[in-house]
Amino acid sequence: MDDRIIESKIKPEDLFEKNIRPESLNEYVGQEKIKKNLRVFIEAAKMRNEPLDHVLLYGPPGLGKTTLAHIIANEMGSNIKTATGPSIEKSGDLAAILSGLDPGDVLFIDEIHRIPSFIEEILYSAMEDFTINIVIGTEGKSRSVKIDLPPFTLVGATTRAGDLSSPLRDRFGIVNKLEFYTDTELANIIKRTSNVLDMDIDDDAAVELAKRSRKTPRIANRLFKRVRDFALVEGEGKIDLTITLSSLDRLNVDKYGLDNIDIEYLEALINKFNGGPVGVETISTAIGEEISTIEDVVEPFLLQEGFIKRTRSGRVATEKSYEHLGIDHNRSLFEGGGLF
Ligand SMILES: Nc1ncnc2c1ncn2[C@@H]1O[C@H](COP(=O)(O)OP(=O)(O)O)[C@@H](O)[C@H]1O
Ligand SMILES: [Mg+2]
Repeated sequence: MDDRIIESKIKPEDLFEKNIRPESLNEYVGQEKIKKNLRVFIEAAKMRNEPLDHVLLYGPPGLGKTTLAHIIANEMGSNIKTATGPSIEKSGDLAAILSGLDPGDVLFIDEIHRIPSFIEEILYSAMEDFTINIVIGTEGKSRSVKIDLPPFTLVGATTRAGDLSSPLRDRFGIVNKLEFYTDTELANIIKRTSNVLDMDIDDDAAVELAKRSRKTPRIANRLFKRVRDFALVEGEGKIDLTITLSSLDRLNVDKYGLDNIDIEYLEALINKFNGGPVGVETISTAIGEEISTIEDVVEPFLLQEGFIKRTRSGRVATEKSYEHLGIDHNRSLFEGGGLF
């Protein structure tokens, strides 16, 4: 009981994130190839007494990039300093961050693709030879000064590796694409969260939640949290399959884990555009979601699960989408006048 009073005082949301975030590679579920390689690179760097080479992590939101960045620092025994691309607006912002680094620090820059390109150039020499050139003084009397930086590791995260300029991308020695998780891995993550938060969940309930989580740990944890509320208030204090199914129903999460935006996207694609091909801009206008949300959040999962295909002329709905929405493919072609 005492715990709950304390919890509500220090923003339970933050505490939740912090508590359930794994802190070591051993606790980090899945992404086996990445972990295996990182273990070697980290050990080698430590043996040489050097900082780890710069690391780029990319992939859809919620797959564990921020978590992995913190783990890298932990495993190196380093301190982590964090910044985000959009918060770096002037060259001076980046210069200040870089010159505040201590030897061996991990500098984590989230959404690194959003650093303006004229500022990005500062990173080139910083990453390559741990130096930056800054211009001091006013126009006419300005001069360039070279500053030495301590050796450090830059960990960059982005949902869009394609938006990174190639000179920047090329300066990362270790480039990792995070993959969607399997249902088994997600069930393990849910089990882990349940342990940390001391709220039991039955195995079959964990598997059901896993299946509905868009292959994404953040969503798995979020669903767990909501179902935990239902179980606490309306259930027996434990999460079983019955309360899980009824909660998911009430949360509008369907059997593939598709949510409202996914469904709107597929319905627009099929009903308004005859299943495509149609460009992302057109879909964006039709459903009132930003192109970046569609490209970074909605489509990667729909593609991975085979609900849509990407062709040169645009997005196309697959048979699986028609089936899932209960729309007869041939009939919709006929009614839409697509064929006749
Ligand atoms: N491999 C993993 N094992 C366990 N939990 C994970 C894993 N990856 C992510 N999580 C959890 O999912 C949530 C989102 O992860 P995060 O690192 O913030 O994703 P991203 O930065 O890629 O958007 C965090 O609460 C984290 O605890
Ligand atoms: Mg993140």
